Amino acid sequence: MQYKLFAPCPDELTDLLGAEIAAIGGTNVTTGYCVVYFEADEEVYYKAHLCLRLAGRICRVLKEIPAQSPRIIFDKARRIRYDNLFSPDLPISIQVASGQRSGKVETHLIGSKLREAINDCFEHHKNVKPNQSSYKAPIGINGFYQKDRLMVSVDTSNESLHRRGYRVEGHPAPLKETLAAACLAVCEYDGSIPFYDPMCGSGTIVVEAAQVAVNQAPLIHREKGGFGFEYLADFNASLWQSVRTKARSAERPMQSTIFASDISPDFLSLARQTATNAGLESNIQFSTQDFFKSEKPAESGLLIANIPYGVRMDEKEIGEEYLVEMGEMFKNKYKGWRCAILAPSDSPLKAIRLKPQKKVQFLNGTVPVKLLVFDIF
Ligand SMILES: C[S@@+](CC[C@H](N)C(=O)[O-])C[C@H]1O[C@@H](n2cnc3c(N)ncnc32)[C@H](O)[C@@H]1O
Repeated sequence: MQYKLFAPCPDELTDLLGAEIAAIGGTNVTTGYCVVYFEADEEVYYKAHLCLRLAGRICRVLKEIPAQSPRIIFDKARRIRYDNLFSPDLPISIQVASGQRSGKVETHLIGSKLREAINDCFEHHKNVKPNQSSYKAPIGINGFYQKDRLMVSVDTSNESLHRRGYRVEGHPAPLKETLAAACLAVCEYDGSIPFYDPMCGSGTIVVEAAQVAVNQAPLIHREKGGFGFEYLADFNASLWQSVRTKARSAERPMQSTIFASDISPDFLSLARQTATNAGLESNIQFSTQDFFKSEKPAESGLLIANIPYGVRMDEKEIGEEYLVEMGEMFKNKYKGWRCAILAPSDSPLKAIRLKPQKKVQFLNGTVPVKLLVFDIF
């Protein structure tokens, strides 16, 4: 069985995600705007859901159909055999997005034509009306409308893949796990050198770093029933179990040290709990401290600081002074380190007075942020 799949991600990450996909055995990997397309055999299909750190979702292509009018959409979409794919009892959600140069049909109309087509398929082949609810739907049917064509797919991840299953709620500005993984990937972190997050908050970056360091699959903690593919008729439970077992046995001992600190003891205990949930607490050294009054924890390594956001935290806007101080810390105390900061794009980043080796723009929720990477000599 060969699946045609695609994984959406921020546009800046398509090459890195493409490389991740190729590394786990995905084939015919190509990139588009905010998406990576690939093919996978059944084992790689399951492995992709378990092991990709940068993918937001994974969707399985059912069919690409012509979509010049609502009538054509209904007529072509009703021929897809949804009745062979999932049970009529399951709630189904339908999402339609359009790309550049989409076409004349409104996306909400495409959505209702897809719903009608699914109903028609079940009524015609099974003589039943499928569940009309979309509440907590385990089946997600997606339409991507571009150039008068509609790619119909099923979302096999169900919940977004940034929801790893280890998070502890309570921090006002937690980073998305996939964004934390992206920062580590941009900084080329492979677990072989010391890693330090001096403003760790709820611990997302250090836990993602520890997962890389011990080669823990990022979605290993997601509970049974959490993936969309588990609700499809062709779900191969024994192969999925064997993919999980292989991933567990590929874990390795830490080769270096990970340090996490925060000025707030409350946030530090959240970070500890997060790491415990991920089974990685013993791999991270935690301390409560003010970064600006601290010493470097190792001779060299990688530091990533997701500095506080004025718009999202009950704190002051990041001013120039704060960034000047940050730059001074890096220059004076972090020689031999690669230091990166993730900050809102509109903060006065020049005040850090260092020339970044890399600059990448992301969205953290709705906030545009920049990752600046400095090699300190
Ligand atoms: C944007 S949050 C980090 C969120 C984190 N990446 C997460 O996923 O939860 C910034 C953190 O910096 C901490 N912080 C602010 N000033 C600090 C300082 N001078 N030293 C250490 N931590 C500081 C705050 O307590 C806050 O938890």
